[in-house]
Amino acid sequence: MSQWDDGISKPDDPQWKQAVQLLKDSQRVAVFTGAGISAESGIATFRDEGGFWLRFPPDEFANWKGLMQVALLHPARMAEFLVAILEPVAQAEPNPGHRAIAELERFRQVTVITQNIDRLHQDAGSRMVHEIHGTLFEVVSLVARRHVRSVSRSDLREIVEKLRHLESAKWTSLAVMEAVQPIFGAGQDGFHRPNLVLFGDAMAEPAWSLAQQAVKDCDVLITVGTSGTVYPAALLVDQARAQGIATIVIDPETSGGDVWLRGNAADLLPKLVQELESP
Ligand code: OAD
Repeated sequence: MSQWDDGISKPDDPQWKQAVQLLKDSQRVAVFTGAGISAESGIATFRDEGGFWLRFPPDEFANWKGLMQVALLHPARMAEFLVAILEPVAQAEPNPGHRAIAELERFRQVTVITQNIDRLHQDAGSRMVHEIHGTLFEVVSLVARRHVRSVSRSDLREIVEKLRHLESAKWTSLAVMEAVQPIFGAGQDGFHRPNLVLFGDAMAEPAWSLAQQAVKDCDVLITVGTSGTVYPAALLVDQARAQGIATIVIDPETSGGDVWLRGNAADLLPKLVQELESP
């Protein structure tokens, strides 16, 4: 790929033209997104510098058993983790990358498959979104994952305020659990938790089955802002390749695909979608 000094893909780059042509020749587009699409909405990715898992090791924080242990033994650390994960999502708004994906629906049949739990694709206007790692905006029963209630960004903001308020008080496991009770804890129907997929959990259904079907049915798969290191989610890319479906990667660091557009999603996606305006 020809690149300019800054290494960012540009519209007169051959790879860029190839990506535009692939989209022009397609009818059904699947867009597979990871944390990078939400970076410009202020939500940290997991594995980049300053990434979430570097601050909160997944052995402790990416599984329910580890989380329960931290909550009981180190409530202040648990509160720090909760604020770190909830606050950016509670405050986030879609960025031009999310909006461009929604805008793509004006030109093509689009299915979004996301590993993100932040609901930003829906807020941007995408109508068909499969959240394969679940969502922070639904509370389910602990084991059976039965729907308990939906939560809003303002509910999440309230929880963050309560946790922040605790900073000035004495940390106890009980106080932290009380603050997060709307999304995690005990209620009338037993234990409830956010509908998230942590390590070792089964994928969210029916999202995962629908995502696999969407890849099967698409003409082009665009992956945006994912390191592609987490399985089974990353199998979707393998599935597309095995079927001979054209793949476009949009990411500043992670290459791959038939075409790699190097750069930030919020910069590149609006320009790419704009190209479909012209015949
Ligand atoms: P990662 O943190 O592994 O990867 C983020 C990707 O986004 C990298 O390829 C970055 O280069 C890219 N990136 C960073 N800034 C970007 C920007 N502005 N525009 C576009 N791309 C950008 O995050 P994921 O691949 O999403 O799962 O991680 C996958 C899963 O790992 C998550 O869903 C989560 C995590 O563990 C679970 O917890 C089950």
